[in-house]
Amino acid sequence: MEFHPIPENFKITQPIHQKTYLVDGELKSWNGATSKVYSTISSTVDYAPTLLGSIPLLEKEQAFEALDAASAAYNNGQGLWPTMKVIDRIACMEKFVSQMKTKRDEVVKYLMWEIGKNYNDSQKEFDRTVDYIYDTIDDYKQLDRNSAKFHKHSGVYAHIRRGPLGVVLCLGPYNYPLNETFALLIPALIMGNTTIFKPAKLGVLLLTPLMEAFQNSFPKGVVNILFGRGRTLASPLMETGKIDVLALIGHSNSANALQNTHPKKNRLRIVLGLEAKNPAIVLPDADLDLAVKECIAGTLSFNGQRCTALKILYIHESIFQAFKAKFCAEVDALKFGNPWEEGAMLTPLPEVDKPDYIQGLIADAVSKGAAVLNAKGGQRTDNYIYPSVLYPVDKTMNVYHEEQFGPVIPIMTFNDIQKPLNDMAESNYGQQVSVFGKDSNTLAPLIDSLVNLVCRVNLNSSCQRGPDVFPFTGRKDSAFSTLSVRDALRSFSIRTFVAAKDNPYNSGILKEMLDEKQSNFISTDYLL
Ligand code: G3H
Repeated sequence: MEFHPIPENFKITQPIHQKTYLVDGELKSWNGATSKVYSTISSTVDYAPTLLGSIPLLEKEQAFEALDAASAAYNNGQGLWPTMKVIDRIACMEKFVSQMKTKRDEVVKYLMWEIGKNYNDSQKEFDRTVDYIYDTIDDYKQLDRNSAKFHKHSGVYAHIRRGPLGVVLCLGPYNYPLNETFALLIPALIMGNTTIFKPAKLGVLLLTPLMEAFQNSFPKGVVNILFGRGRTLASPLMETGKIDVLALIGHSNSANALQNTHPKKNRLRIVLGLEAKNPAIVLPDADLDLAVKECIAGTLSFNGQRCTALKILYIHESIFQAFKAKFCAEVDALKFGNPWEEGAMLTPLPEVDKPDYIQGLIADAVSKGAAVLNAKGGQRTDNYIYPSVLYPVDKTMNVYHEEQFGPVIPIMTFNDIQKPLNDMAESNYGQQVSVFGKDSNTLAPLIDSLVNLVCRVNLNSSCQRGPDVFPFTGRKDSAFSTLSVRDALRSFSIRTFVAAKDNPYNSGILKEMLDEKQSNFISTDYLL
């Protein structure tokens, strides 16, 4: 890649050496082993990875400190945080988000350097996360308003709310190190749980500007932040049996391994967003320009490193030639550049070994009869491999089965719609699908089948999580539990209530509690 000077405001002038971790409300210093953080983006004309800084490599002793702090703050549901008035928990969250907003530029800059996300998408990730926090606060108020009443049935009064579950271990992914992680952490917190949070392998230093805000916005022990390896930190935590909720966005292998180390699996709640292999199905009457445009965005936004990315395309045989010509031309016209460069849709891959992995998938497919259809497919630079359009792909090839999570696009053709439907039914994944077509007589029965194979059918558009108020989930190995602003509040809580037989004795007690505002739980006050 030709070297373009880096704009002043995006240059790395000083590495960030993150020397503290957050436990029990204290930013504790770490003097032990550290791990250097490099970006695969070069700062110099001759290619060399850029040193961004370093992070602590904490040991299990520090993980246990965090667990003790989170458990003490929860105190079997009797802690300050789980018993706090809704309005006060909201005040803490508002304090946090107002400080977070002041760190936008720094976080966006590190999103670009650490994971190679382009400038627009990095800004979007930050803004969307701030919106998510405000929307969560609003929905929590609504939930609280809906609960501020008594039900009566068969002579029994019930005051029903949602209560916290306990200590939540939050593990986020590298592709959305801010948004996906906070989409777990924020609802877990606001529902009254206490948390231990460990960032993913990449996208860690971007949290440094937020450490103080976490420290000063929440009571001690409510948010604990650890740095280091999952195997060293997360597994020992699970083995204690004291983690009540495992909230993980990542791979099912990690989710299964962690669940298996918990001694009392029946007690463990899981909230998981996992891998997917979302297909696009392009029908004969599809608007080709639209289908091509959406398939480009679906397969190659953030270089395909999205769980929601389109990872296999099924094109009807009758339009394959036309689709192929347009699609390949558009893929080859995409600009590769550093994240801050104008119009760079394709950006360096943050995982050093990813280009080799993708090249391996291409070689495997080609050895079994596929061809690379586009001229630039598979071209390498120091930190990139240009997207390859592979055709014809079949089930003997690794790229058919594996979630590539990178720039390679397998294509299959079909004559009978039952072919993609059978493949989806057989697949281990079940997150989303995109279907392109116009005839409602064809689409209607197809949609009726697709909704039972996945959890979101995107009509004439690529797959995506957003808007974040919509349910985000999946079948089979793709997810467990549902996330959305509202669903996440449910996923991180349980219904709990006070029941009292309707008689003057009980009514007198309840009335006094309400009049004197003695309980934080039993309350009919409305939050506006
Ligand atoms: O990696 C999975 C993300 O949830 C995808 O979110 O569809 O908004 O890119 P997105």
